[in-house]
This record gives sequence, structure tokens and C-alpha cells, in this order.
Amino acid sequence: VEPLYHNNVVFVLGGPGSGKGTQCLKLKDEFHLTHLSSGDLLRAEIEKGSDIGRDAEELMKEGKMVPTTVILGLIRKAMEENMDTPGFLIDGFPRAMDQAHLFEQMIGPPRAVLYFHCPLEVLEQRLLDRGKTSGRVDDNLETIKKRFRTFEELSMGVVEHYKGRGKCVQVSSEESVEKVYEIARQLFIPPSPVNHPNVVFV
Ligand code: AP5
Repeated sequence: VEPLYHNNVVFVLGGPGSGKGTQCLKLKDEFHLTHLSSGDLLRAEIEKGSDIGRDAEELMKEGKMVPTTVILGLIRKAMEENMDTPGFLIDGFPRAMDQAHLFEQMIGPPRAVLYFHCPLEVLEQRLLDRGKTSGRVDDNLETIKKRFRTFEELSMGVVEHYKGRGKCVQVSSEESVEKVYEIARQLFIPPSPVNHPNVVFV
């Protein structure tokens, strides 16, 4: 995969606790990208007390996926609100092939997929530690295991799909945040100055 040097969509995937959010915040700051986290968009709906939030909360507690139409609608709206961005980091989406197909039909193919790989034991420990202070309803051992299963059963297929298309960059995220970032940022280092936005909705 060539480095990114103009406006583009990058999907950021990885198991629960693999560091997607942590790394996206750093990429966002350094490269002035727009970070859209599917989990954060859903948690914002829960916070608002919307119908979407009420339904999503039950599924998230169980480590299950919310319906594709719901998540796609939230992502599309958030993209439309940020069309002047030099690029989107879409974190935690697509998590199943139907999401990937619908996104591509609606918006187009991603420029690349950044996949953070990490063993289950490390993920579990990170999320159990975070659960002590995060207040997240899904950071308990039972739900963490369900989230991991959902990832393996549904989301790994998306990673494999984009690997097959030569679009996936795999980064091991077992190391320290700084070491992981040093590798992840290579994808975004421009060979030439930044161009203008060119995401087109069709
Ligand atoms: P979401 O919010 O996306 O949760 P997740 O995928 O389980 O990921 P997390 O946010 O828990 O982890 P992360 O990979 O971002 O890691 P982080 O950087 O936070 O989704 C939640 C739920 O929403 C889903 O289960 C589903 O129900 C629903 N949902 C979301 N998207 C959906 C979709 N597309 N379709 C349908 N449903 C959807 O790091 C974790 C912890 O580890 C932190 O404490 C961090 O400080 C620490 N850490 C990070 N990196 C390192 C490191 N290198 N070394 C040591 N510690 C580290």
C-alpha cells in the first residue's frame, strides 16, 4: 500500500482493545485527519437518550453488533458534516462484509485498511484495566469475550477481504503505544504536499 498523500478514507480495524482509538487520536493530531469512531458515535447517541442510543445500548452490553443501517447512517452523517477534511480515519467500521459493501456502494472504496493485531490475553488485560475507570458497560470479562468472538466471527472476514485486495496494512499492537505509532504513522507520511479533499458521495 502506498502512503496516503491526499484526502482519503482509511478504515481502522482490530479487536476490542487493540488500540484503534489510541492510535487514531495520535494520527488525527499529526496529520489533521478527521477521526470517526463507530463506538463513539453510538455512545453519543446513548448519551443523548435517542431511540438509536436506547436500542444500541442493549446490544453493546452484550458485545453484539448494532444494525448496519444504523451505523452506516451515523457514519455518513458525520462524514457529510466534515467534508472539508484532508482525510477520514474510520475507526471500528466496517465490522462485517455487508457494512463494507454498502459503504463502497454509497461512498466508494477506502484508500487503505489499517489493522491492529494483538493477542486475546493482552486485549483482555487492557480492557479489564480500562474498565476500572472507563464506566463502559462492555468492559467486563464476559462482554470482552463476546466482543472478541464477534470480532473473530464477523470482522476478520473484512480484514481478509481487504488483504486480498492489497489494501491492508497490518501492525502488531502488542508493543508500547509509541512503538506502535511509529509504524502506523508511516502509512500517512506524504511523498508530496497535501492535495485537496476529494471524497465524493454518489
Ligand atoms: P467500539 O467502541 O469500537 O469498541 P471496540 O472495537 O471493542 O474497541 P475499543 O474502543 O474498546 O478499543 P480500541 O481498539 O479503540 O482500543 P483503545 O485505544 O481504546 O465498539 C463498541 C461496541 O459498539 C461494539 O461492541 C458494538 O456493539 C458497537 N459497534 C461499534 N462499531 C460497530 C459497527 N461498525 N457495527 C455494529 N456495531 C458496532 O485501547 C484500549 C485500552 O488499552 C486503553 O485503556 C488504552 O489506553 C490501552 N492501550 C492502547 N494501546 C496500548 C498499547 N500499545 N500498550 C498498552 N496499552 C494500550
